[in-house]
Amino acid sequence: MNSSGKAQQLRESKGLRRIAALTAYDYPTARLLDETGIDVLLVGDSLGMVVLGFPDTTHVTLEHMIHHTAAVARAHPRALVLGDLPIHTYDDSAQALISARQLITAGADAVKLEGGEEKATTVRALRDADIEVVGHIGMLPQQVVEEGGYRKKGKTPAAAAQLLLDAQALEQAGACALVLESIVPEVAARVTAAVGIPTIGIGCGENTCDGEVAVITDLLGSYPWFIPPFARPEAAVAAAITEAALAYRKRVRGN
Ligand code: KIV
Repeated sequence: MNSSGKAQQLRESKGLRRIAALTAYDYPTARLLDETGIDVLLVGDSLGMVVLGFPDTTHVTLEHMIHHTAAVARAHPRALVLGDLPIHTYDDSAQALISARQLITAGADAVKLEGGEEKATTVRALRDADIEVVGHIGMLPQQVVEEGGYRKKGKTPAAAAQLLLDAQALEQAGACALVLESIVPEVAARVTAAVGIPTIGIGCGENTCDGEVAVITDLLGSYPWFIPPFARPEAAVAAAITEAALAYRKRVRGN
C-alpha cells in the first residue's frame, strides 16, 4: 500500500479499531515489530536520547532523522513509517516542506511535527504538497529546555481549552492523526472526543485516546538510565545484554 493509502487507513481507523504504535530506529527492530502487526513505526526524535546518547531531543538533526528513517524503511514495513521533523527544521512552511520532502525521500510515509494551532498553516502547506502529517500536542519534548523539564499538560481550564483548539486546528489543516503526550487523562479523553481523526496517547492514562505509542526502549527495558513513570516494560533486555556480555567475557577470558 502506498503512503497516502496507509495514512488514509490510519485516519479511518477512528472508532473502528485501536492503534498500536511503537518507535523504531533501525532495520532489525522495524522488521521484527512489523511482523507483529504494529500499526505505526515512529522514527521518533527520541532517538537522540535512547540511541545517540544526547540529554534531550533538541540535539537531533535532520541528517540523523534521514539516516534512521532510511534504515527503518529498508525493512519495507507494512506499517506506516512516521518520521519526526526535528527541532528548527520546520520553523516556517517553506522550511518544513524542504525538510519533510527529505524524510519522505528517505522512506517515511508521513511526518510528525510538534505544536498546536500555530502550526496549522505549516500542516496545510505540507498537505497541499501531498505530504501526510501527524500532529503532536501536549508536552512537547522539543521545548523541554525552554520549559525547564517534562511537565503534565492540560491542568487548568484555560490550558485544556487551548489543547482542544490546537487539536481542532490541526485536524482542519489536514493532519491524519494526533499524538497526545502527557496530557491529564480527562482532558486527553475530551480532545479525543472532539476530533474526527485518531489520537495516539503517551503518558495520558489508560484508554483516553484512540491508540497508544510507546518508546521501544521503554517497552523492552533496554534503557535503564531513564524510565518514564508511565513506562510499562514487557521485557528486561538491559539485563539480558549484561548477562550475555558477562557470559561471553567468561568464555573468552576465563573470568
Ligand atoms: O520522539 C518520540 O519518540 C515521540 C514519542 C514520545 C511520541 O515523539
